[in-house]
Amino acid sequence: MANSKLTTYLILIICFCFTVPSTAKTSTLVQEIKQQSQVQDKEPFVGVNLGTDVSDLLSATDLVSFLQVQKISHIRLYDANQDILKALAKTKIRVIISVPNNQLLAIGSSNTTAASWIDRYVVAYYPETLITGIAVGDEVLTTVPSSAPLLLPAIQSLYGALVAANLHTQIKVSTPHAASIILDTFPPSQAYFNQSLTSVMVPLLQFLSRTGSPLMMNLYPYYVFMENKGVVPLDNSLFKPLTPSKEMVDPNTLLHYTNVLDAMIDAAYVSMKNLNVTDVVVLVTESGWPSKGDSKEPYATKDNADTYNSNLIKHVLDRSGTPLHPEITSSVYIYELFNEDLRSPPVSEANWGLFYSNSTPVYLLHVSGSGTFLANDTTNQTFCIAMDGVDSKTLQTALDWACGPGRANCSEIQPGESCYQPNNVKNHASYAFDSYYQMEGKASGSCDFKGVAMITTTDPSHGSCVFPGRW
Ligand SMILES: *[C@@H]1O[C@H](CO)[C@@H](O)[C@H](O)[C@H]1NC(C)=O
Ligand SMILES: *[C@@H]1O[C@H](CO)[C@@H](O)[C@H](O)[C@H]1NC(C)=O
Ligand SMILES: *[C@@H]1O[C@H](CO)[C@@H](O)[C@H](O)[C@H]1NC(C)=O
Ligand SMILES: *[C@@H]1O[C@H](CO)[C@@H](O)[C@H](O)[C@H]1NC(C)=O
Ligand SMILES: *[C@@H]1O[C@H](CO)[C@@H](O)[C@H](O)[C@H]1NC(C)=O
Ligand SMILES: *[C@@H]1O[C@H](CO)[C@@H](O)[C@H](O)[C@H]1NC(C)=O
Repeated sequence: MANSKLTTYLILIICFCFTVPSTAKTSTLVQEIKQQSQVQDKEPFVGVNLGTDVSDLLSATDLVSFLQVQKISHIRLYDANQDILKALAKTKIRVIISVPNNQLLAIGSSNTTAASWIDRYVVAYYPETLITGIAVGDEVLTTVPSSAPLLLPAIQSLYGALVAANLHTQIKVSTPHAASIILDTFPPSQAYFNQSLTSVMVPLLQFLSRTGSPLMMNLYPYYVFMENKGVVPLDNSLFKPLTPSKEMVDPNTLLHYTNVLDAMIDAAYVSMKNLNVTDVVVLVTESGWPSKGDSKEPYATKDNADTYNSNLIKHVLDRSGTPLHPEITSSVYIYELFNEDLRSPPVSEANWGLFYSNSTPVYLLHVSGSGTFLANDTTNQTFCIAMDGVDSKTLQTALDWACGPGRANCSEIQPGESCYQPNNVKNHASYAFDSYYQMEGKASGSCDFKGVAMITTTDPSHGSCVFPGRW
């Protein structure tokens, strides 16, 4: 969705899920790639989109160095920038390249053009540059519907050229869709593809099924939240842990949804099933949250962006799949790596990035347990806080225990001290729970309090109130 994506950008995919032992050096590059892609198939990863509407975009070599410093090992370009493809050679960074929408006509109407595109952008760089996929167009069915008839021909021509080059098993071809091609997403069991698109979707899905390629979806809980305020709670959109009463229950399946993204992914599975396709995996090609917006976008804040993206990463790495398909965890590409200062209003459009274009972070992700993902990450920070939706009497009992027998340090929540405000039991309980949790060295079981506490990576400190555990 992230509006008006007519300009070219790059998508960067971050993979932090495996490292190849250095003994692999003796094997040939091709063998290595095969081993890696086998691991890759099994391991869900997180990606980041990189737009190029940036006034001072890093040079290709600086970009690749930055990716390496940040331990980013997968990238995808929205076009097929040859400088970047060249700079990526002999790195372990994987790249998905894209055919911009304005090239669909040429490629979709000529196998020869498709073949020369593959020669120029794939064969010329592979396997030194680890190209893993081709995204054909972006949100074509919704942003340039007049090009819809060209989409499948373009995909098939490119695939045909890959077959001719014997690269079709290593490199997958698909096309990213906007979430809006799916109607009635909530509850997910009632979702279906917009029927006006059936004549495109049926053969497309059959192609994806036949070639083992993913259904690429751009899914933004942010927009779902903004368009359904009061219906979709912020916490569900941000993947915050919920009390059972706040989970969304699908009345048809009785499946419980703790977050909006899972519901959107399951809606895609249900929509495919309605067209009798059950063996295509959903790949989330874009998802994210803006860190800044104008007065009409009050939820575009650094805190929310940090919470969303941090929780998103953890959710993927948890590998818990979705309620409908716990066995499949979709890889997700965060939108996006750099803020694009040249994007036109609204303000949020220029503020989806994890980093400013000079490579300083917009905010620090809190991605506990994700290993080396993003060098700027403050991974090991976790805090223990009171859950939402717990009645205050139960919380008070837990608070009394923490500050009494539990011997938590509750000095800061006494009247006049820095964490006394806001003066309510939830805030005080959170401070006391966190104090206890940190005192116990974050031992397992030390953030429970009979089920009313939860671990978070979002620093609950506010104003002059600093929670224990913030270094
Ligand atoms: C283009 O290639 C596809 C598959 O590779 C083939 O089915 C089709 O006949 C070709 N079209 C032309 C005009 O050669
Ligand atoms: C379904 O798709 C058609 C054709 O693209 C579009 O005109 C229509 O608005 C869509 N329907 C909905 C409910 O979004
Ligand atoms: C899906 O399968 C059902 C039952 O075999 C059939 O009635 C229906 O037409 C099929 N739908 C599509 C889109 O192929
Ligand atoms: C983020 O990482 C870069 C590169 O390692 C470093 O120069 C910068 O100081 C870091 N910023 C913070 C806030 O840690
Ligand atoms: C983070 O935690 C891991 C494992 O618990 C530990 O090995 C590592 O040293 C910690 N890093 C920091 C910066 O504390
Ligand atoms: C309790 O916490 C406060 C504020 O962090 C600190 O100044 C004080 O020394 C702590 N007390 C004990 C007994 O650790």
